[in-house]
Amino acid sequence: MALRQPGWRGPTRPSCLRPAASRREASRPPYLYDPRKRAVLRSYCRGQAFVEEAPIFLLFCADTFRLREVAERQGHAFNYSRIDLLLAATIDAALACQNAALAAESIGLGCCMVGGVRNQARDVAALFELPKGVYGVVGLAVGYARQVNDLKPRLPSNVVVHVDGYSTAHLDEGVAQYDGVMASTGIYDGRRVAIEGVTPEPSSDNAHYGWAEHTARRLARGNARRKDLGPFLRDCGFVLE
Ligand SMILES: Cc1cc2nc3c(=O)[nH]c(=O)nc-3n(C[C@H](O)[C@H](O)[C@H](O)COP(=O)(O)O)c2cc1C
Repeated sequence: MALRQPGWRGPTRPSCLRPAASRREASRPPYLYDPRKRAVLRSYCRGQAFVEEAPIFLLFCADTFRLREVAERQGHAFNYSRIDLLLAATIDAALACQNAALAAESIGLGCCMVGGVRNQARDVAALFELPKGVYGVVGLAVGYARQVNDLKPRLPSNVVVHVDGYSTAHLDEGVAQYDGVMASTGIYDGRRVAIEGVTPEPSSDNAHYGWAEHTARRLARGNARRKDLGPFLRDCGFVLE
């Protein structure tokens, strides 16, 4: 199957069948084949090679452009722009991405979702020539997998699945168990998060460094790369309140 062929639309066909909130059809996946643009996109996504090299790259967008067009064409005001429109359009895009990933995997392809497209969302929008009212929620790189990775461990289900109301009953024991399981996979080796002024240095923190510490340190570090996301979404016409 020649994936790097502009006419091939395999993984997105089932996304035509995706649920769309109130039939608003607020998402669409532009393909990116242009190799020069792919190289630029890679630089926006922390230089991750697969963003440039994967045969197919799809950008799933929250798309309110058509809705705005239709409202204007019909001569009505566009008063629907509360935060719910941003959330609904974003959910639609995420569902479409998940469906495309399932479709790709069902025919033996491998894929990786790329939230990194939101690091420089404004630049990504310019690269894809997205009109006002459209932003790239998540990318999907698709190709033939070099290797099939095992599923990673997950938090125990009694921590994340609650019956008849939210429950923290198993949180402490579940996190402690998951800490040990994740640390033993070696997943944090070479990726531990150092924070200036915070001790112990993660490299010498073997007893304590697991999922909880890694996650908490990442949360403490914040995400400076995405500080323009809010202002960009506002400029794009989304209302964040
Ligand atoms: C919404 C979403 C965004 C992701 N963004 C990236 C990304 O930008 N770069 C990357 O290398 N992997 C990304 N991933 C892949 C995950 O880091 C992880 O490799 C993948 O989900 C499989 O691992 P898991 O079994 O732990 O989920 C993303 C995954 C999801 C679900």
